[in-house]
Amino acid sequence: MAKGFYISKSLGILGILLGVAALCTIIALSVVYAQEKNRNIESATVSPTPTPTLATTLDQSKPWNRYRLPKTLVPDSYSVTLRPYLTPNAEGLYIFQGSSTVRFTCTEATNVIIIHSKKLNYTLNQGHRVVLRGVGGSQPPAIDRTELVEPTEYLVVHLQGSLVENSQYEMDSEFQGELADDLAGFYRSEYMDGNDKKVVATTQMQAADARKSFPCFDEPAMKAEFNITLIYPSNLNALSNMLPKGPPVPLTDDPSWSVVEFHTTPRMSTYLLAFIVSEFKHVEQHASNGVLIRIWARPSAIDQGHGSYALNKTGPILNFFARHYDTPYPLSKSDQIGLPDFNAGAMENWGLVTYRENSLLFDPTSSSIGNKERVVTVIAHELAHQWFGNLVTVEWWNDLWLNEGFASYVEYLGADYAEPTWNVKDLIVLNDVYRVMAVDALASSHPLSTPAEEINTPAQISELFDSISYSKGASVLRMLSTFLTEDLFKKGLASYLHTFAYNNTIYLDLWEHLQEAVDSQSAIELPTTVRAIMDRWILQMGFPVITVDTKTGDISQEHFLLDPEANVTRPSEFNYLWIVPISSLRNGREQEGYWLEGIQKTQNPLFKTTANEWVLLNLNVTGYFQVNYDDDNWKKIQAQLQADPAVIPVINRAQVINDAFNLASAQKVSITLALDNTLFLIQEREYMPWEAALSSLNYFKLMFDRSEVYGPMKNYLKKQVTPLFLHFRNITDNWKEIPENLMDQYCEVNAISTACSSGLPECQQLVSSLFKQWMEDPGNNPIHPNLRSTVYCNAISQGGEAEWDFAWEQFRNATLVNEADKLRAALACSSEVWILNRYLSYTLNPDLIRKQDATSTISSIASNVVGQTLVWDFVQSNWKKLFEDYGGGSFSFSNLIQAVTRRFSTEYELQQLEQFKRDNQETGFGSGTRALEQALEKTKANIKWVKENKEAVLKWFTENSK
Ligand SMILES: *[C@@H]1O[C@H](CO)[C@@H](O)[C@H](O)[C@H]1NC(C)=O
Ligand SMILES: *[C@@H]1O[C@H](CO)[C@@H](O)[C@H](O)[C@H]1NC(C)=O
Ligand SMILES: *[C@@H]1O[C@H](CO)[C@@H](O)[C@H](O)[C@H]1NC(C)=O
Ligand SMILES: *[C@@H]1O[C@H](CO)[C@@H](O)[C@H](O)[C@H]1NC(C)=O
Ligand SMILES: [Zn+2]
Repeated sequence: MAKGFYISKSLGILGILLGVAALCTIIALSVVYAQEKNRNIESATVSPTPTPTLATTLDQSKPWNRYRLPKTLVPDSYSVTLRPYLTPNAEGLYIFQGSSTVRFTCTEATNVIIIHSKKLNYTLNQGHRVVLRGVGGSQPPAIDRTELVEPTEYLVVHLQGSLVENSQYEMDSEFQGELADDLAGFYRSEYMDGNDKKVVATTQMQAADARKSFPCFDEPAMKAEFNITLIYPSNLNALSNMLPKGPPVPLTDDPSWSVVEFHTTPRMSTYLLAFIVSEFKHVEQHASNGVLIRIWARPSAIDQGHGSYALNKTGPILNFFARHYDTPYPLSKSDQIGLPDFNAGAMENWGLVTYRENSLLFDPTSSSIGNKERVVTVIAHELAHQWFGNLVTVEWWNDLWLNEGFASYVEYLGADYAEPTWNVKDLIVLNDVYRVMAVDALASSHPLSTPAEEINTPAQISELFDSISYSKGASVLRMLSTFLTEDLFKKGLASYLHTFAYNNTIYLDLWEHLQEAVDSQSAIELPTTVRAIMDRWILQMGFPVITVDTKTGDISQEHFLLDPEANVTRPSEFNYLWIVPISSLRNGREQEGYWLEGIQKTQNPLFKTTANEWVLLNLNVTGYFQVNYDDDNWKKIQAQLQADPAVIPVINRAQVINDAFNLASAQKVSITLALDNTLFLIQEREYMPWEAALSSLNYFKLMFDRSEVYGPMKNYLKKQVTPLFLHFRNITDNWKEIPENLMDQYCEVNAISTACSSGLPECQQLVSSLFKQWMEDPGNNPIHPNLRSTVYCNAISQGGEAEWDFAWEQFRNATLVNEADKLRAALACSSEVWILNRYLSYTLNPDLIRKQDATSTISSIASNVVGQTLVWDFVQSNWKKLFEDYGGGSFSFSNLIQAVTRRFSTEYELQQLEQFKRDNQETGFGSGTRALEQALEKTKANIKWVKENKEAVLKWFTENSK
């Protein structure tokens, strides 16, 4: 599945770190939880509900009480016919009917057939749920009885005799299931088309819900061929993994239904199956190798051309991966479909990829460059899986990290090929490497790899879909590919894919094929085997901080922990030492590569400098570690950055900022050293260093925007950002154009929002005049989609009632969700207390703000420094009512508590929070319970941080804002 990109950009590492000094485990929970929730947006169907009766409490000697299938039977082929009803039956239930035949081979004699089945009702045939047949003349044993075992999700067939080893059998069943709106298995998705409600029948099988659409051996290694037949209303259309064998034919006893039979699939895993019935339309194209490419969506979206961008990019990306893997695309077609209510980001079903609309469709008139980047990277991610994951599949979910980490790495390569001018590959450093380091630097992190026997239940599988699997997986594979070189990596990869096509692997199989590639040449030498190097990154959690003393050339490593007092209870067979590939620059020139070979400390002339030399480690942050230096070397790096930043590559300019703020949180460098590392920004014109600084400083803003520190801090930012703002004014012909490349477009947005919020008059004039032009001609919005969020927010913040009322009017009339969302957030930017109070009251009126948007709107108001107190008062005095009216609904109390307490950093606020907890003990906190505990801990940590740093920070900003 695709990973999420929904974490707010401003949630910088420091924002995540804020609580490190206090109870670290609690904060760790909050970070991991936030990530999981974010994942869950995308993998909502990996059923989050724990199984009610734990099968482990049942008699484990019975194979049907164990979550893993026995190895006695393996499937060869299925024939499945499904008929979804898109209107409710007499009882008001949406259902589907199905029949299925599975052919399997017995590999070990057994008198019981155990096959997955979840929430399916079977039609009895001669008193049993299934009919069993021998293949090739053999007589099967008679059925004794069948039963459904709910905790382990099995249909169990008890036989009177044994199945014979090496014999084949076929088992038939007929069943009915609910086409629920639960986003799992075969389910229904609803959307409005004008005033008509439309229903789509679609699927999400990963991880363990194919069993909810037909009985199957539902584990990724149980690959088989599938013959899918769909029966569907004739006015709609039906899609599956393969193309149809021929045109649909009318159903004999009811010609208002059609029957379509699809070609047999290649050997594949059940979690990659897909079937969809809808009224969607498509656009299509043939790739250069003849593969049919189609983009499907709601008819109106296709009519407006919103599938055009995805269609343009799919062919090139498929060609890129076919070359990258040295393997042709394995199927004859590639369908991609945007679903209006798909709760996942995307799902890589073989040949029929499903997306949420915003990850596939692109509307040039209202979508921003960020929307476009998301579309191309998610497409690249899902298409990368069509080989890595689908053609070759990991044996079991414990190796999910390999599948998702790999796709999360190569999505950047595919997107870069499709949009070569964007430098999109660089973004992995901010979006994955640093983001996951913030989680992986906690004592409560966990290793990438988990032993297979520890992952059994659907809930355990669901937990694996976290940022460690996606982003740390991507980070260490990128590191591996860099030290092997991409060509060698590709050679090993192709050999792995050729060997295991249509089959399953464990991660060690990939290491083995990479090792063969290494052994076949002599240009690249490794200190030890690929496996020995990677074990340390895969089997132990965390990562090292590498410390260099340039006076002596000493180099050492240490497990990096954000909380220096954290207690690491998880043992590591490698004692938290790594084999680290180290690249470096000396005064801007690249030095030879170096390996720190699993030892704590050593010395090397590469890292020793003379008086006017500096070194900088980890070129382009391809290594998954942080770097610290002696003070002198830091000073020389700062001097270099201020004299001529271009000598240091752009990613490393971001690294210097990120690493220093992280080290300061871990109390390894002073806060003023980290701040000193931002001084060069006055000359910086690139997105990445600025983004690193702004996200790090966001925590400062939250801690200080109500105190005397904020004035000098704003002045400092204004001073630093003014040249950047003027630069963009220049290259855009006085804001009439939009910069050409992606990074510049992102940087322009940052420049405007920082310049306006730090009070640069010219910026404020710019946004108010743009907004005024729009107010004068509402039918003609002159503001580019990229800039809308920022311009709306700042114009409303500076404006009064007229601006707010206009924006409210536009919000009420907006037909595009992404436009409405921008306005809804911007309405919270007002500086007028009475306006914010009125807006707050609107959020509880579902006719004005949809219920599902209530919390996020209240959170936006709370993130405004003026609105924060209002919301806190409101929450304190209305908790009971809020809880009674909204409890159990879509209202997220945890988001609300997080948003309203984010700035808390005084003893007084801590007391208020404790009082709030006491006062509402009886009502309870529901889904906000954990968030409240975390808020208490974070508030204590913030108090401590502010106490320790405020004076130094105030002094620093005062001195440096002149
Ligand atoms: C699926 O179709 C293929 C090709 O027609 C056929 O060989 C196979 O037996 C079918 N599988 C089942 C279970 O009917
Ligand atoms: C399956 O059977 C149960 C129990 O009789 C019933 O409540 C449920 O509605 C049935 N589901 C379907 C889809 O028919
Ligand atoms: C897709 O390509 C066509 C033909 O080159 C072009 O006219 C169209 O603008 C492209 N669509 C998008 C959204 O880039
Ligand atoms: C799958 O791989 C296993 C182990 O390498 C091998 O024994 C088996 O023959 C392969 N199966 C197929 C269908 O290629
Ligand atoms: Zn994925």
